[in-house]
Amino acid sequence: MHLDDLETPVLTVDLDVVEQNVARMAAHAQRQGVALRPHAKTHKTSEIAALQLGAGAVGLTVAKVGELEALLSDELRDVLVAFPIIGARPLSRLLARADRVRISVGLDHPVAARELSDAAAAAGRTVGVLVEVDTGGQRCGVLPGRPTVELARAVAGLPGLELRGIMTHEGQAYAARNRDELRAVSLAAGHAMVDTAREMRQAGLDAAVISVGSTPSAHDIAEVNGITEIRPGTYVFQDYNQVRLGVAEVRDCAATVLATVISRPAPNRAVIDAGTKAVGADRHMILAEPTVFGLIKGHPGWLFVRASEEHGVLLRTHDLDRWNREEVSGDVQGDGGGDLHVGQRVEVVPNHICPVVNLYDELAVHRGGAFSGFQSVAARGKSR
Ligand SMILES: Cc1ncc(COP(=O)(O)O)c(C=O)c1O
Repeated sequence: MHLDDLETPVLTVDLDVVEQNVARMAAHAQRQGVALRPHAKTHKTSEIAALQLGAGAVGLTVAKVGELEALLSDELRDVLVAFPIIGARPLSRLLARADRVRISVGLDHPVAARELSDAAAAAGRTVGVLVEVDTGGQRCGVLPGRPTVELARAVAGLPGLELRGIMTHEGQAYAARNRDELRAVSLAAGHAMVDTAREMRQAGLDAAVISVGSTPSAHDIAEVNGITEIRPGTYVFQDYNQVRLGVAEVRDCAATVLATVISRPAPNRAVIDAGTKAVGADRHMILAEPTVFGLIKGHPGWLFVRASEEHGVLLRTHDLDRWNREEVSGDVQGDGGGDLHVGQRVEVVPNHICPVVNLYDELAVHRGGAFSGFQSVAARGKSR
């Protein structure tokens, strides 16, 4: 069977490229002397988790208890749940796994710490805690310095909890406009973490783990002296965001959505069978306008400008001006048929691969186009 025999849309993954991405990041972490704890949210599969652990990852990062449950294996010895777990039910599910795997939880609020402590104490277990620090992403996290030290002190005083250190997700790296800016943002986040850990130690608190994590920052932040762990996730597949940020090439993008051209309603327009249900809804800008939903691999003359649930609309780049002036209608006099025909297959490199994986029950894995089978996306939809 060949990839072309598969019904579309389908999410294909080139295992040769995955293995190369896994090996590269493992070598980078080893060179820099930091532990690698990949975020499994990108691939959500047991097979690729095993590949990462086999290449030297110290454990995995997950966001939800359900992801941990889905990815449990004999090889998985150590997990960071990088998400505050609130509520008796998810906490009891979490603690029920503590006999099989060493668990740490990232949290940023005294209530989350107390709930975790109560659950751990009730289960007769000890759970590790990393205090989540906001180094600029403005999502979860306490501010670096004193606020982090104060929460860490509260955690250290609670039964059933072991303060292991601090974590951050430096998601602000995604806003960098060029490599210099990316490096500056990454280093600043790393230094904020190391300085905060120093303050914790001066206050007599443990800060053995200084965990940071994102794919764009992974290269530079690991250089910061004192960082102990990196948690990139997207690197395993890469995506168009990483290409745009300059940290990956299109050839490093292991996961692509295979789609079929289903209509050529106008010379300047092609429609594929992959809308937001197949390629996700994340947008980004490659030109001033319009936004795109991904890269059409090997067809630089076409832009993926619009997506409804089932339809993806591709526009010829040379019609962009008219598109922007809203003059493009169904029967534009263009240059004829173009290089896409109904029935033709195209490969879409999604902007942001993680939520795209979550749209599929299985990955169609191949090596250089030779289809080798399906892998179940075991942690798909595990949002609890
Ligand atoms: C807490 C945390 N750590 C690590 C990552 C991995 O980042 P990336 O997807 O850029 O590799 C994420 C991604 O959202 C995250 O939320």
